[in-house]
Amino acid sequence: MKRIITYGTFDVLHFGHINLLKRAKSLGDYLIVGLSSDEFNAIKNKKSYYNYNQRKIMLEGCRYVDLVIPENNWEQKTEDIIKYQADIFIMGDDWQGKFDYLKDYCEVIYLKRTPNVSSTQTKTYLKG
Ligand code: CTP
Repeated sequence: MKRIITYGTFDVLHFGHINLLKRAKSLGDYLIVGLSSDEFNAIKNKKSYYNYNQRKIMLEGCRYVDLVIPENNWEQKTEDIIKYQADIFIMGDDWQGKFDYLKDYCEVIYLKRTPNVSSTQTKTYLKG
């Protein structure tokens, strides 16, 4: 059983997110998503349109996602990898190199972002 772990805010879920989750899942058998809590987003100066519980419901409705856990701080990734026995850590390549320190614990893979779509872009468009 190969376990994959990835992290993000996943606000106003879009096809770029689904592409990432699909490719992540295809690298193993069980996909865990660390979903940024509203409090952690505030620390990152991010404000999501949907709150944590709403974003969690959407991710849990995605066929590629097996488990959603809260992401509350920057430091928990190492602990999560150990606790959930993750074999591979995945992030989009907007984070290229940033999580290489996790290579002591598991494989680290950065996947290409889907071009021309982001939560910010959607929210900006909807604001008019
Ligand atoms: N992602 C992706 N392709 C996109 C947008 C996001 O592969 N077009 C990936 C990110 O690289 C990350 C995950 O999806 O691994 C969650 O990203 P998140 O930051 O929640 O989504 P964004 O749309 O980038 O959000 P924002 O506009 O708020 O930065």
